[in-house]
Amino acid sequence: MKVLFVCLGNICRSPTAHGVFQTMVEDQGLADSILVDSAGTAAYHVGNPPDSRSAATARKRGYDLSNLRARQAVETDFRDFDFILAMDESNLMNLRSLKPHNYSGHLGLFLDFSPEPESEVPDPYYGGDTGFEHVLNLVESASEGLLEQIKRECL
Ligand code: 4NP
Repeated sequence: MKVLFVCLGNICRSPTAHGVFQTMVEDQGLADSILVDSAGTAAYHVGNPPDSRSAATARKRGYDLSNLRARQAVETDFRDFDFILAMDESNLMNLRSLKPHNYSGHLGLFLDFSPEPESEVPDPYYGGDTGFEHVLNLVESASEGLLEQIKRECL
């Protein structure tokens, strides 16, 4: 299975999801079965490492984002990924406009896999440190739900 997490810049939310989900996959011995990647709908930060605030927040909980670099989502991602998961409705709308009509994978909101009431991971870029902690909490919750669903239905 191949899973792609998508936000706007690919430097805050989707790299956090990438690092958290990758760690859970590895911890459960599933790295040979599940490939994880992330991308942004915008190109502003292509080639850049994750935002230092996202990296520091993740590191405190044991997730290493240091090898990740931003890239832009492209149409061929719909050929390559079984799950394409957007952090918010705006990202989802942008992905829908890239989506080939015959895509048969799952395109939707990442937080649909979380039991929390929120449906979107809020953009933390212009806010304070609590925004980054909130992103990480939401991402951990949805990652657990996503991994359980993939194990139950896809592996
Ligand atoms: P992300 O956050 O979409 O979670 O990576 C953002 C990063 C950069 C910008 C906006 C959101 N920006 O406007 O540069």
